[in-house]
Amino acid sequence: MQTSYWKLQKNSENKEAMEQAAALIKAGEVVSFPTETVYGLGADGLNQTAVAKIFAAKGRPNDNPLILHIAQKEAITPLTTGLNANAQKLIEHFWPGPLTLIVNKSSIVPDAVSAGLETVAVRFPSNKFAQDFIRACGCPIAAPSANISGRPSPTNAQDVLEDMQGKIAGMLDGGSCGIGLESTVVDTTEPVPTILRPGGITYEMLTEVMGAVEIDPALQGDKNFKPKAPGMKYRHYAPKAPVYLFEGEACQKLPEVIAKALAAGKTVGVLCGRALERELAELAEEQQLQLACWGDSREQLAADLFYLLRDFDRTQPDVILAEGVDESGIGLAIMNRLRKAAGYQLITLQNGSLHLKNSATLPEFMIQ
Ligand code: TXA
Ligand code: MG
Repeated sequence: MQTSYWKLQKNSENKEAMEQAAALIKAGEVVSFPTETVYGLGADGLNQTAVAKIFAAKGRPNDNPLILHIAQKEAITPLTTGLNANAQKLIEHFWPGPLTLIVNKSSIVPDAVSAGLETVAVRFPSNKFAQDFIRACGCPIAAPSANISGRPSPTNAQDVLEDMQGKIAGMLDGGSCGIGLESTVVDTTEPVPTILRPGGITYEMLTEVMGAVEIDPALQGDKNFKPKAPGMKYRHYAPKAPVYLFEGEACQKLPEVIAKALAAGKTVGVLCGRALERELAELAEEQQLQLACWGDSREQLAADLFYLLRDFDRTQPDVILAEGVDESGIGLAIMNRLRKAAGYQLITLQNGSLHLKNSATLPEFMIQ
């Protein structure tokens, strides 16, 4: 299949591109589009056959439901049997924006979208290109992130094309996504709103408006809990090389561990902040060391995280060591994605020595 491509211009309605892309959607095809979080893979959310093409292009398991994207608050009304007070308050405060609400679904939502659940996920993105596109289509747009299932989500057009060229009918290129991590998913059908996936609308922002907010316990990686968002159970965001995530005080040991891994002849990828980058300046002259530094802020890390993880697939080190961040604010979403990228290979410091969570055996180069 030929993938049509349109470069979108800021401060323009991009009328021709939007009309052509919308015509493909109306014909039941799949088109990728930018949002403020990550790129989406969109199809007519009320057309079962079109939605099936999204699953095929991504290689996505059928039991993982999709988000319906809308371009005005009122457009949620026909998709649900009704909104409770919590849902209404969340909409009022956080839409448009990176917040997806789980609500009880109405009968017009195809089973393919909700994966057979009684609920449906709905989001009103704040990205202007996304809004113009959805409006031009005139229907709710079902869209997952535009990656092949299991890979990091794409945050620029080139990363979308790397996964989707030839598999989808069109691609709207709106430049880089600002936030870089997928939307916060909140279940509003429980008495207390529950975060099923952390994202750009943080726990702190939600509690400030809503009072009590819960976090799905499965997000801590405890195997005794089954995640309520089906997508959270899959290995995700994972580069091809094994990733170890250093948490808390274990980060202090990173320079030592890196030196040892290099001495053992390994090529090492390191994902770290500015302070550690400076500390590693001397080691960084080594050919075998690839430093991916996210800069000075956690917002910058969120924006760059998926791009940096994808970059490691281009360079293919033997092992990737990631420096964790604290979990306040956007840190909760960052650590959630990093833990999944690491397949829950988490390194902590206990009584002065390194430990691999859930396992007795540390890799050789981490034994001190
Ligand atoms: O920022 C985003 O949300 C991006 C952009 C494109 O909008 N989309 C996105 O979609 O990340 P996706 O499909 O990659 O992730 C949707 C998540 C999955 O974990 C899925 O299991 C969960 O939302 N989800 C969807 N419908 C659900 C439902 N009815 N109940 C619980 N979880 C649901
Ligand atoms: Mg996804």
